[in-house]
Amino acid sequence: MRPWTIGGIDALFQQLNRLNPDAILGLMARYRADPSERKVDLGIGVYRDLTGNTPVLDCVRRAEQEVLAAQTTKAYVAAAGREEFNSAVEEMVLGASHAARRDRRARTVQTPGGCGALRVGAELIRAAAPATTVHVSDPTWGNHPPLLGSSGLRLERYPYYDAAAHTLRFDAMLERLEQGGAGDVVLIHACCHNPTGADLSSSQWQQVIDLLQRRRLIPFLDLAYQGFGEDLAADAAAVRLVADSVPEALIAVSFSKNLGLYRERTGALIVVSENESRADAVQSHVLQIARSIYSMPPDHGAAIAARIFADQSLRQGWLAELAAMRNRIRLMRAELAGHLRSVAGSDCFDFIQSQRGMFSLLGVPSSVVDRLRDEHHVYMTSDSRMNLAGIMPHNAAYVARSIVESIAAQRRPA
Ligand SMILES: Cc1ncc(COP(=O)(O)O)c(C=O)c1O
Repeated sequence: MRPWTIGGIDALFQQLNRLNPDAILGLMARYRADPSERKVDLGIGVYRDLTGNTPVLDCVRRAEQEVLAAQTTKAYVAAAGREEFNSAVEEMVLGASHAARRDRRARTVQTPGGCGALRVGAELIRAAAPATTVHVSDPTWGNHPPLLGSSGLRLERYPYYDAAAHTLRFDAMLERLEQGGAGDVVLIHACCHNPTGADLSSSQWQQVIDLLQRRRLIPFLDLAYQGFGEDLAADAAAVRLVADSVPEALIAVSFSKNLGLYRERTGALIVVSENESRADAVQSHVLQIARSIYSMPPDHGAAIAARIFADQSLRQGWLAELAAMRNRIRLMRAELAGHLRSVAGSDCFDFIQSQRGMFSLLGVPSSVVDRLRDEHHVYMTSDSRMNLAGIMPHNAAYVARSIVESIAAQRRPA
């Protein structure tokens, strides 16, 4: 008789031990339980407005009402999702006249968020070549390794950012990728890198493209913050260039942040193939993979998004709201960097102002992160990632003082 037998029946779950809670969820729970009025949440990666709320965008509310009023059925849409959503996304990401679209080499399917796109993309890579290595940046978003690794793909890290020096490790990145094998996949954040806020310049993108071509590496671009850096077109410029320069590419798109559709799970996977007939073959695999994981993507978020993309007034409203979110984060970056400059008497925190998107790495050891949380009620993830959307005009000076004091206290001999 096996030790995990209950009443003579083998217990299926007996061998499963309790896992450690997800670090970010644990941090959220600690923040909620903290009674301090001064507490500041720079941890969880969602946009916040000046009241600390993650708002439903006005354009989303309006589109949602129209969607509900027009809805006559809840029947399935299709494994590929809504056609009008897919073609609008493809146009928004690649641009209306991109060669890959003109040559019918691009195919897009709606997915449950950017995570769904990353996972379907990983499964597609595995279906095509199970021994593929995927190179991810060091550091990268914490969910990249489980999303891609769970498909059984081998993951390797390429150097990307020096957190202590607050600079890209671009030469080291090229050097490492230079050693990649032909057919390896390289996951690159298309803009607003999470967690560093440090993006490649256009000349660096060009060098990466040269390397992808020369070493025959396949780009997998993660576009989760389109519109949070400059604007929709500028933030997709690198994606467009890459997709124009190589025969094959994957692009994971998310509308969680730029449309605030987080819980509606709205995203897309674009796959660019060598030619039209190969694209058709690839699409048939993508659809089979989707069927085998979740069968059909959720419709509500994509229906809202498609309405916004198609309607002139809703779209204009969205662009204005997107610009407001982007500008608020930029202002808060400047505000925090300014306070840090005056409290520290140094420009060593100016990188916060020049980086893009929601995140920056403070670049301090986890002991300083603990001190910030325990003594100052300022919460960030243990790698010292700050969500700048958690900064408000009323707390920026307090956060700056807390950071400088915590770093100084750490340096003092005990
Ligand atoms: C880098 C990156 N990629 C992809 C995603 C996917 O987001 P979602 O699945 O919520 O659309 C996120 C969300 O935080 C992200 O930060």
